[in-house]
Amino acid sequence: MTDLATQLADACRAAFEAEGLEARWGDVKQSDRPELADFQCNGCMGAAKQAGMNPRELAAKIAPRINESEAVDRVDVAGPGFLNITVSNAALAKQAVLIEADPKAGGGAAKDPEKLVIDFGGPNVAKPMHVGHFRSAVIGDTLVRLLRFLGDDVTGDVHLGDWGLQMGLLIIAVMDAQPDLPYFDASAKGPFPEAPPVTMDDLSTLYPMASSRSKEDEAYAKRAQDAVAEMQAGRPGYRALLQHFIDVSVAALKVDYGFLDVSFDLWKGESNVDPLIAPMVDALKTAGLAVEDDGAWIIDIAREGENVEAVGKDGKPRLKNPMPPFMLVNSRGATGYHATDLATIKDRMETINPGRILYVVDQRQALHFEQVFRAADKANYIARERLEHLGFGTVNGKDGKPFKTREGGTLRLADLNVMALEEATKRIGETGLSGDIGEVEKAQIGELVARASLRFADLQNQRTTNYVFDLERFTSFEGKTGPYLLYAAVRIKAILRRAAEQSYSAGEIVIEAAEERKLVLAMDGFALALRLAREKRMPHYICEHVYGLAQAFSAFYAACPILKDDIGAAKRASRLALCQAVLHQLETGLGLLGITAPDRM
Ligand code: ARG
Repeated sequence: MTDLATQLADACRAAFEAEGLEARWGDVKQSDRPELADFQCNGCMGAAKQAGMNPRELAAKIAPRINESEAVDRVDVAGPGFLNITVSNAALAKQAVLIEADPKAGGGAAKDPEKLVIDFGGPNVAKPMHVGHFRSAVIGDTLVRLLRFLGDDVTGDVHLGDWGLQMGLLIIAVMDAQPDLPYFDASAKGPFPEAPPVTMDDLSTLYPMASSRSKEDEAYAKRAQDAVAEMQAGRPGYRALLQHFIDVSVAALKVDYGFLDVSFDLWKGESNVDPLIAPMVDALKTAGLAVEDDGAWIIDIAREGENVEAVGKDGKPRLKNPMPPFMLVNSRGATGYHATDLATIKDRMETINPGRILYVVDQRQALHFEQVFRAADKANYIARERLEHLGFGTVNGKDGKPFKTREGGTLRLADLNVMALEEATKRIGETGLSGDIGEVEKAQIGELVARASLRFADLQNQRTTNYVFDLERFTSFEGKTGPYLLYAAVRIKAILRRAAEQSYSAGEIVIEAAEERKLVLAMDGFALALRLAREKRMPHYICEHVYGLAQAFSAFYAACPILKDDIGAAKRASRLALCQAVLHQLETGLGLLGITAPDRM
């Protein structure tokens, strides 16, 4: 099905072409002044200027052409040459019927579907996940859902951080605690025990302990570095330990992500590309792309106008437009974050061959990704413009600084989930659930409300902006919140349930009231919202849409009785059908945001 805005734009474009003008002038959007018309086309002014015509005269010629299209009731020329388009009640009714029957609820499909990998999540094995990883997970998961819905072929990869110094710290921490384990025998080749020697709880106490000790104890830090180097070089016992750490962490991560309904197709990590690194480095050296620099191997990725030497205001020399080189192998002979990311691109091209790779990672890593992308382009793995870093802003506390817990640490995802659940449960208690809901269902509702609160609070912000963490606001049933939207969906479900109890059924949709018109127009905007969200990789367009839809439903519900006896069977049947269409689209939209509404609350 095609949304009305597109149908009208097609008609407008044809009208401009019929006047010998460019089709692009025929863009149509929903009206900024809904009291005057439903849609508007502002192209006459620009087209007339270009063609040396009078804009109002041009508009007067275009208007009757648009008026011929079936959906249009009236076209008015206003001001200097605006075309104000009003669609017929019948066209709106037809649209509502199509939305109700459409498996995509009017959401449309991408014209140019692509094969993509989305890299999001990026938690580090053994280190607790923090709020930044939460944003990555929620935004990335929503993009996966959206793109897939619109027809793209998407693979989501968690890309664990499992190759860095933290692994060395863990190895020596376990070694000190349980020195007799077979993993620490340098000559042992395995097989090693299948059961992990540590639990997630062990890891989460060992890591912070080892990490802080390494900052004060140089010899300890050196041992950790040596352990990483040996692990990277392939020492069997350390590799076996690494796998245990990964397995134990992944099991815990799945619980935390599961709470948010975030999932991944691939649970690969930095360590997976280890076998690719040595041959990759060799090939890059042979090709002359990697060059030696003070004992390290780097790739020069600067472009003209970058790394220019200049003199600062203070008279001291400084670099203008700095673009540090890509560090392939450092002077100690180790490979790190740059190399694993580059090898991961190579791996993805060889195993999946996507047309595009998207990275949903904190904006503060922008330089890292620019470096990796340029190196991948230079190495001919994939063109720079097919790699996108989708950065996001910081979650701040009420003081405007990056959010910290009361103890001053970064907030862990598991704690965030627990806090949200507590707050949601408290809110539900205040609002009061319908009386006959039992304890089990109550708990399920609490989880759905908590998840909706967290996900919507994050996704409603434009991806790149910072936002303030405020659980009390996020879990409120009023305002632009997840719980408000759940409430809207639950209310429609309740209406439909009551109708069924009274054996009322939905029937032919007839649009009459202004609020009914607005409700259908709100639904008609779904395809555009999804198109924008996909093009710009910005989930907030979906949030805007579902919120606007819920508000339009509220206005409709206040003005148009549905179950009242005296409205008559035909009206009731029509309004029930409208309710069904709205619920279908609302739940579809919420589903893209990873939000599920309970049946009742
Ligand atoms: N593990 C990294 C971090 O915590 C994020 C990984 C992002 N993805 C990537 N391909 N580099 O900062």
